[in-house]
Amino acid sequence: MAARLRFNAFTMNCVSHIHHGQWRRPDTRQLDYLDLNTWVDLAKTLERGKFDAIFLADVIGTYDVYGGNRDVAVEEGLQTPVNDPSLLIPALAYATKDIGFAFTQSILQEHPFNYARRLSTLDHITNGRVGWNVVTSYLEDTGRNLGYGGLPPHDERYERADEYLDVIYKLLEASWDDDAVIKDTENGIYADPAKIHNIDHVGKYFDVVGPHVSEPSPQRTPILFQAGASTRGRAFAAKHAEAIFIAGRNPQGAKAHVDEVKQNAAQYGRNPDDILFYQGLSFVVGGTEEEAKRKKAEIDEYASTRGYAAHFARRHRHRRLPVRPRRARREHRDEQGPGHRQGPRRGRARQDVDLRRARPLGDRHADRRHARADRRRAPAVGRRRRRRRERHVPRHARVLRGLRRRRHPRPAGPRPRPARVRPRNAQGKAHRRGFRAPPERPSSRRRAPSRAPAGLALHLPNPPERTMRTPKTLLPLLVLVAGLALAACGGSDSSSGNADEFADAKPVKGGTISYGHEQEPPCLIGGWVQQAYIQRQFSDSLVSQVEEGEIVPWLATDWKVSEDQKTWTFTLKDGVKFTDGTPFDAEAVKTNFETWLNPKSLNPTVDAYIGEYYKSSKVIDDTTFELTLTKPYSPLLSALSQGYFGILSPKQLAKGPEANCEQPIGTGPFIVKKWNRGKNIEFVKNPDYNSAPQNAKHQGPAYVDGITWKFLGDQTLRYGSLTSGESNVIYNVPTVNWKDAKGKFQVQQYITPGRPVTFSLNTAQGVFTDKKVRQAFGYAADRKAAVESAFNDVIPYNGNGSLSQSTPDYDESLADAYPHDVAKANQLLDEAGWTEKNAEGIRTKNGKTLTAKVVYPAGSVVSAEGVTLLQNVQEQAKEAGFDIKLVPSSPSETFSGKYSTPDSYDAITWYWTSPTAGVLYIVWRQNLKDRPNGNNSSFYNNPKLEDTIEAANSTQDEAEQQKLYAEAQQLINEEAAAIGIYTQTTSLASQPELRDVWIENSQGEPVFHDAFFAKKQP
Ligand SMILES: Cc1cc2nc3c(=O)[nH]c(=O)nc-3n(C[C@H](O)[C@H](O)[C@H](O)COP(=O)(O)O)c2cc1C
Repeated sequence: MAARLRFNAFTMNCVSHIHHGQWRRPDTRQLDYLDLNTWVDLAKTLERGKFDAIFLADVIGTYDVYGGNRDVAVEEGLQTPVNDPSLLIPALAYATKDIGFAFTQSILQEHPFNYARRLSTLDHITNGRVGWNVVTSYLEDTGRNLGYGGLPPHDERYERADEYLDVIYKLLEASWDDDAVIKDTENGIYADPAKIHNIDHVGKYFDVVGPHVSEPSPQRTPILFQAGASTRGRAFAAKHAEAIFIAGRNPQGAKAHVDEVKQNAAQYGRNPDDILFYQGLSFVVGGTEEEAKRKKAEIDEYASTRGYAAHFARRHRHRRLPVRPRRARREHRDEQGPGHRQGPRRGRARQDVDLRRARPLGDRHADRRHARADRRRAPAVGRRRRRRRERHVPRHARVLRGLRRRRHPRPAGPRPRPARVRPRNAQGKAHRRGFRAPPERPSSRRRAPSRAPAGLALHLPNPPERTMRTPKTLLPLLVLVAGLALAACGGSDSSSGNADEFADAKPVKGGTISYGHEQEPPCLIGGWVQQAYIQRQFSDSLVSQVEEGEIVPWLATDWKVSEDQKTWTFTLKDGVKFTDGTPFDAEAVKTNFETWLNPKSLNPTVDAYIGEYYKSSKVIDDTTFELTLTKPYSPLLSALSQGYFGILSPKQLAKGPEANCEQPIGTGPFIVKKWNRGKNIEFVKNPDYNSAPQNAKHQGPAYVDGITWKFLGDQTLRYGSLTSGESNVIYNVPTVNWKDAKGKFQVQQYITPGRPVTFSLNTAQGVFTDKKVRQAFGYAADRKAAVESAFNDVIPYNGNGSLSQSTPDYDESLADAYPHDVAKANQLLDEAGWTEKNAEGIRTKNGKTLTAKVVYPAGSVVSAEGVTLLQNVQEQAKEAGFDIKLVPSSPSETFSGKYSTPDSYDAITWYWTSPTAGVLYIVWRQNLKDRPNGNNSSFYNNPKLEDTIEAANSTQDEAEQQKLYAEAQQLINEEAAAIGIYTQTTSLASQPELRDVWIENSQGEPVFHDAFFAKKQP
């Protein structure tokens, strides 16, 4: 599995950064750190060597714990003396073209108002190439010297940091409008005063009125880095950072860290895939093995244990380090964070040592002894060990999900695109350096960071060797003292819990998975996402969508599309059988398409996706199937990857809808043995399964013997069944139990792409026919706060009413659409003529009250927590004079179509999971061929919108498509035809021993084919 590596040089404006003792070597330039030429040479060298950025560490203070004073630190040049890193940047930027510069600054150091100006200035003069490593300081004298009377407590520093960033965001993102600077030389107006705003921040630590005093810079907020290792630090990183340094000792440790941060990031409403993780790894590289060995020996010779000890000691100022059993040690390490491993390996000498009282080791002998210990953790050297390290790199890369790479041969035809928002400045660029935001980035009012940096890597202890001349000879030498980092993206799963003891377990056969699901559909197949979840267990689709949004082979091994984009030819897997013995072939695929689209056996969702694009199906030969469309349809492959498009046995299909409702048959890993309505579905394993998708973890039959798919609608009972051990895994963990589940189980959360849960406002009949009233409803309530509170900060708010934030081509500029603004709501309602109020404070017009019937499909769309949210909105909307009547629709009412006509509600809450922005076509068309579009729950008719969406669906030009889908979202938003609330989200929690359950990417269903019950490792 090839991963693209991103390189980031990690260094510091001082003599000895982290590789202590090396400054004494005659062949380094560490003593020249005061000479600007040294840094310019370094920057140019790294740029030639294709590094993405230079990262400059920093501390404010001295290492004075070891030996009870700072003597050793000073003697060793251990980050003392140290100069300001940010002041190097202008010179380095001037001497280079596109390399990025990330520098460290503590939030204790400077008032955010002043610092915001420094950031803007640096971003301007580097043309968007600057990044900020946000730290909270750990040296005691930092606090003393900056007037805090000592270092504020650890968690309080992070609390302060949160507010600090809040102020920074407000100043950099919200104070100046994009079009504030006019530069109108004719009229002598440089900037428009109306477009520059105060921020009026009043907080616990800072009061800042604003406005920001610099004009908007290329990135506005520079790329944010973070390296917090504690629980609080990781949460902070998850909330703010776009690139995170980790120091996992092994792939499992790295994975745990990455998973935790991603999980937290999702809870902050961020796309976890937008965060890059950089793993620190050290290498010694030579032109030959001998050369590398020689260099390593030199490093050992110069390594200063005193330096490491003094550096390390600060972490344990109040600790003794007793001998600990393995597990306790691991916990201790977690508590300390990965950075904990930076010092020499703890050996016997560290047992029960109070480092405050430890005496400095001054002698060469001690240095050697510790250097020997250090060697055990030292970089790989020479051929054999180098190979081992090389194996290590891809393993980390796997954990970190590697980079944007094309793992599979790209299918012919329209380019499938990621299922989630891609890191913006990684988009389509093989190796983009520097941090400048791409032009398409909406630059105003960014709240949570969502970009990922161009990337970089790690550890240059100091300026390069004097002898470096060309990148070719230089780079290996550079890496001699450099580390390497891997950047990563992708991944929806976010497991944690106490599953470590099973982390390395090998698959074992046997056992039946007891799975607690939420909703029971009326049939096992059909057009509801819950049916697709079930269908996935017993049938296979033609293609599968992988995490990065790529389409990979499944029942189709290959496909191509004609020049006019209308004829698709699929090559099918040979030798596959349905579980009733019927061969899987092109005829079977043809029968499926024809059955799905036959009015008598219609699959409404298949019809919604391709009904109007479908022309004909043709069998070319047993393994070649041809699909002809009426017009180009670029989301086709994404659509086909979903469970609704699972291929079913033609023999069974011939028995009619009823038989297939109860006992559908596919080629999948499990067979429906029995559906005990109201209770469960019993699945048994398909012993002959040979058609897993390419992205499965293994081919061949499932490891487990079967699944008991239980329907546990009550969320408390469902979670209780997990904690009691009655269920091995459950769906949709109640958000109130999320934190508990994270500590005990493996948890995964998946933010479903498609249409988020929205208020669809009835534009055809009732109070919401007036656009101003619709808009007023949007402004009337603090939907974001209501979501955060009702879902305990677990399920993200989604202000964009058209697409969920994980959908490709989601328009982020609408993330905060219709923010809470009662004054605006009042103004709009006044303008709409709702000027009077009755005794209850409800607005009236011509004797009618401003009453809106809001229907919510209880149990099928809106959970108990969702009801709390709606009640919050109801309460708040009252302030603007709305009378909201909440009306639950039971599942049977929902499925019988009780609330599907314009006279049946004023607003309804809906979602629609879909891996493509093509879902807009499904939701916003007015009419289908022969009937109104039941999915258009706003009854909104706008030919311009339909044309825009159809043009987006048909174009092959990705940029054009993105633009058109964005236009469609903006139109829907401007019309307030739907108001966004929250993302439809799948979560899973499984017992630690149940391994390798994963969430599928097109819709978010659990996949059990790879799952197995691990045995405890000895
Ligand atoms: C690769 C890496 C680089 C770091 N660079 C700095 C730095 O330059 N300045 C600093 O004060 N802390 C730095 N740190 C420390 C972290 O910011 C953080 O304080 C530390 O990992 C402990 O985490 P915690 O604060 O969440 O307990 C770095 C950590 C790592 C892993």
